[in-house]
Amino acid sequence: MPLPDEFLQELVFRNPITDVVSSYVRVKQRGRTLVGLCPFHGEKTPSFTVYPETSSFYCFGCGAGGDTITFVKKIENLSYIDAVRFLADRAGMKMPKEREDDAVSKLRMRILEANREAARFFHRVLYSPEGREGLEYFYSRGYTDKTIRRFGLGYAPGNSALLNELRKKGYTDEELVLAFLATKSQKNDRLYDIFYRRVIIPIIDIRGSVIAFGGRVLDNSEPKYINTSDTLVFKKANGLFALNFAKASKQSSIILCEGYMDVISLHQAGFTNSVAALGTSFTDGHALLLSRYAKEVILVFDSDSAGQKAAQRAISLLRQTGVRIRVVTIPGGKDPDEFIKRYGPERFKLLIERSANDIEYQLMQLEGRYSLDTSDGRVSYLNEAAILLSKLGSPIERDVYAGRLAEKLSVGKQSILEQIERYRTATRKKQQKRELSQAIKQTEEIVRRVNPMAVSHLRASKAEEGLLGLLILNPDYIKHVSEKLDPDNMVTDFNKALYKKLLERYKNGQMIDLTFLSADYPDDEMSYISRMVQNARESVGTPEQALEYAEIINTEKNMLLLADAENLPDDKIKEMLEIMRSQKK
Ligand code: CTP
Ligand code: MN
Repeated sequence: MPLPDEFLQELVFRNPITDVVSSYVRVKQRGRTLVGLCPFHGEKTPSFTVYPETSSFYCFGCGAGGDTITFVKKIENLSYIDAVRFLADRAGMKMPKEREDDAVSKLRMRILEANREAARFFHRVLYSPEGREGLEYFYSRGYTDKTIRRFGLGYAPGNSALLNELRKKGYTDEELVLAFLATKSQKNDRLYDIFYRRVIIPIIDIRGSVIAFGGRVLDNSEPKYINTSDTLVFKKANGLFALNFAKASKQSSIILCEGYMDVISLHQAGFTNSVAALGTSFTDGHALLLSRYAKEVILVFDSDSAGQKAAQRAISLLRQTGVRIRVVTIPGGKDPDEFIKRYGPERFKLLIERSANDIEYQLMQLEGRYSLDTSDGRVSYLNEAAILLSKLGSPIERDVYAGRLAEKLSVGKQSILEQIERYRTATRKKQQKRELSQAIKQTEEIVRRVNPMAVSHLRASKAEEGLLGLLILNPDYIKHVSEKLDPDNMVTDFNKALYKKLLERYKNGQMIDLTFLSADYPDDEMSYISRMVQNARESVGTPEQALEYAEIINTEKNMLLLADAENLPDDKIKEMLEIMRSQKK
């Protein structure tokens, strides 16, 4: 049963899109729209646009678009109904009574419940004789009972112990497989526990739900960790371990480290704003997520070469989001976990206070690669440094660092600044070109996925898109257009279905705008539809234009039919010609 229009209308009214978006994206007023850096892809020039008048958004960079509900779906990674619930909560509204949840969101709930039961079970086992080994392992790493309780750490005994427990509680085999708690053996088709004789670290999201697990071996065997793969409730590439605690610590900076164990040690030592990516390298999704909760990210990566490479990667992804970045270098090739254990929290705090910002850090790394006592080395170093500084957005920062370099290498500051300027122009051009070609590619891909027929029927689909966009912006045109254009004359399938939907809503006297479409169209399709609306906004938008589109569509349809006509019987062709003649009038 769909949600009543009146409810959706109030939901959108009580959650102005500007307010909703502003809690995730810094936007600036530009005319009647708001503009900011897109939260759905990395970019330097703002192309994410919010239209308060139609409660919708569109990104010219990646083609993402939709209404308020679509926005929440995408940014919070929720199903449609959960996004509606999220907005209802936000505005203090009650969900309509007796709403049947759809199958997927029910399944999602079952998986979350199974995860919670599993976490309880693992934790209980840890403090039972069966979990002795696991508990001793945690103690040997210096974790206190308080820490173990706080993180809900546990032990997975294997031997299908979890499976039996959860079956007893009524979970089906299918649910357990989808939750990534059990897996089918290829040999005999029986189910087994995935986490087997490992200590367990539950991953908890900011709403307090257990969404995944990491399991570590107790010895040196491989693989060291097993992590939950992507499930209906978990996307690895967006997950950050301990973000729930870091967010609750309400600090303006977040410490990012590499491993689970580092995070737990840091929290125990009082650094409750620490997080880590889990089981994957750092992604742009992580960067966007962090930038939403912190003004500053402090990188504390291992000092081995893998750790330093990972830090460089994190820096370049984080820089695109505009957060401030600092990099802590741990002396003596240690990871944060070892360092804290050996030298204590005070010393670690000093490391943070003395840490370099990302530019200083990268200059230091560069310096290590060139020998500054030779002219060659100095020239190469200065060149690389100028490239690095050319990426700084603030002229003051560029000036300060150019000054420092000049002093250090006894070179004129002006010549360094000129070199920086040269690179800036080059990078800016390259960046703009890259963003433009990326934008074209992204929107083309959306069309290919959503309405593949559009690619081979360019003229028809352009007219269809133009028309549909106009109709969504001006539903009162529908009456007139529907007299001239039969839905079956729409050439491409997706647009035909959308046109039918609009006609049906119009006939039933229902409202038409993106909000009411988002219940039926997934994100990609909403993006495609939003682009139509976007183009319509920029066009003349008169009823005459709508009728012109209708005529083009009719002509295109007839051409297609004619192309097929060779295979048709004579009377059929005659009939078609008559129809064409009547449409011309
Ligand atoms: N990792 C993983 N699978 C592995 C190895 C590592 O998923 N086989 C991920 C884990 O999220 C781990 C992180 O990479 O926390 C960092 O790896 P590593 O430094 O090896 O692990 P630590 O957490 O530091 O574990 P320990 O201190 O016990 O070595
Ligand atoms: Mn470690």
